[in-house]
Amino acid sequence: MEESYRKDLSHITWDEVFARQVRRAGLVEEWMEALHLQPGARVLDIGAGPGYVSFVLADRVGHDGLVYAADRSADALAYLERLKHERGVTQIQGIVGDATTLDPGALRPDSALVTMVLHHTDDPPGILANVARLLPAGALAVVAEFHPEGPCEQGPPQSERLPPEQVREWCEAAGFEVLTYRRQTPEHYMWTVQRRP
Ligand SMILES: C[S@@+](CC[C@H](N)C(=O)[O-])C[C@H]1O[C@@H](n2cnc3c(N)ncnc32)[C@H](O)[C@@H]1O
Repeated sequence: MEESYRKDLSHITWDEVFARQVRRAGLVEEWMEALHLQPGARVLDIGAGPGYVSFVLADRVGHDGLVYAADRSADALAYLERLKHERGVTQIQGIVGDATTLDPGALRPDSALVTMVLHHTDDPPGILANVARLLPAGALAVVAEFHPEGPCEQGPPQSERLPPEQVREWCEAAGFEVLTYRRQTPEHYMWTVQRRP
């Protein structure tokens, strides 16, 4: 566990956040499977940070697809934009904004990831309610978090972790039907949910 953990991540650099995303790379394939992510899909990555997961999603959806990488931090998205330029990736669209108020505008996502982000905010139900608003009926979403009974060798301290049953209740209140639960590792769990009609 980190000695000086801060919920807003101000205690670490975006390089370090990216490195931590890389250390969790093994989780991403299962998230994409749960979303049935195919080439040509348009997926919303909520709290994309410096973008490791967004690039994996971009590989999967290909040039005919689109990844909306949304984050409240302009610095995180500047990091992602630099990588996009270096890697010549065009199918990621960075969106600076708070996920509780992000407006549908021109967004047309057909699925969403809300992974390792809720514990960084003061309003997890607000994020989930807005993600439900941004998705069409029937759309799939994955909500993943750190388990409070995990070993706490990485990620937030136990006191900052969100119990899976609490996250499930928030998902249901937001307008999602809960489909499946999985403890991906001792440290991580995921819910697969579906936007109710
Ligand atoms: C650990 S990082 C990246 C998590 C990434 N989704 C993953 O699975 O690796 C969490 C990110 O969530 C962002 N974030 C936290 N609260 C947010 C909010 N209310 N709206 C948008 N982004 C938010 C932070 O700025 C940070 O970049």
